Amino acid sequence: MIGRDGADFASNDYLGLADSAVLRGAVTAALARGVPIGSGGSRLLRGNHREHEALEAEAAAFFGRESALYFSSGYAANAALLGTLPQRGDLVLFDELVHASAHEGMKLGRAETRAVAHNDVAAFAAAIADWRRAGGAGRVWIAVESLYSMDGDIAPLAELAALAQGEEAILLVDEAHATGVYGPQGQGLAHALPPANLITLHTCGKALGCEGALVTGPAIVRDFLVNRGRAVIFSTAPSPLMAAAVRAALRIVAEGEGLRTALFDRIAAARQALAPLGVPPGESQVLPLILGDDVRTMAVAGALQAGGFDVRGIRPPTVPAGTARLRISITNNVDLADIAALAARLTELLGERSSTPL
Ligand SMILES: Cc1ncc(COP(=O)(O)O)c(C=O)c1O
Repeated sequence: MIGRDGADFASNDYLGLADSAVLRGAVTAALARGVPIGSGGSRLLRGNHREHEALEAEAAAFFGRESALYFSSGYAANAALLGTLPQRGDLVLFDELVHASAHEGMKLGRAETRAVAHNDVAAFAAAIADWRRAGGAGRVWIAVESLYSMDGDIAPLAELAALAQGEEAILLVDEAHATGVYGPQGQGLAHALPPANLITLHTCGKALGCEGALVTGPAIVRDFLVNRGRAVIFSTAPSPLMAAAVRAALRIVAEGEGLRTALFDRIAAARQALAPLGVPPGESQVLPLILGDDVRTMAVAGALQAGGFDVRGIRPPTVPAGTARLRISITNNVDLADIAALAARLTELLGERSSTPL
């Protein structure tokens, strides 16, 4: 682990809220009105606090869903969702690029699991047909992300939702990197999907600048997770103070058109400046620059860091073998001059004009 020096091209604090005066102010106000720091126990024992309940009511309203449940992290939420909801005899089809926490959940669960080619709706449909033909009779669960964390590309959510509806499958959408950034008021990319067979996960440690995760969906799903989710039952409830911070963050992003405009201006500038270096076309705040070779990737990342740019190299197994990359994350913590300077330095390091290209 290394420190957090240099211009922030590495965090998921997309809107720049994590260290903002507005969020600090909300936490100071919450402390002043007596919100405790620790919960003191599991939600099912004395750990349940009115801040958790207020947050969940506000989150359900914000995301336009029947219910919400607050977890202490996205990792715990994914582990609980996939470890608890699919039953023996069911099938979980997951995009091959889903996050490690989804894999953790699938390992804990009892359903059969199969990887499907990235963003390939026809492959999802074919996998369901194959399974049914072979006698699969249970429920199908489709687990995807709306915006992939290492590639920055966006899932074909409308098509996946239509497939799920036709197959009476449940669509699980991890909105970790979309919440706060996309959709009206930052509700995420799944905001317009039919709600009946949809469960979404909104992490709070990325654009919301806090910590934890909100699972939203039908009330029956919340009840099931509360009663059967081991991460809910056997874990200390999240900090009520953090719940208060997330409540404030939801209000800030709901009114945060200016923050999103600022971010999208930066994304456009970064995409334009970095496309000639090999960043693939796209629209999101996550720009992958795939260099392929692990050693070269880490050497370029190290040279950038030494020059004051906090860019991190990502190697297998976090990404598939042979696709080591610089994950360039655009946030409101940098300005347009930082982006231009990064592009210039990268051009020097990778370009043919460099005397010692890496
Ligand atoms: C797609 C995705 N899901 C879940 C998580 C886990 O969330 P958390 O960091 O809140 O545990 C992450 C974190 O990196 C993520 O990228």
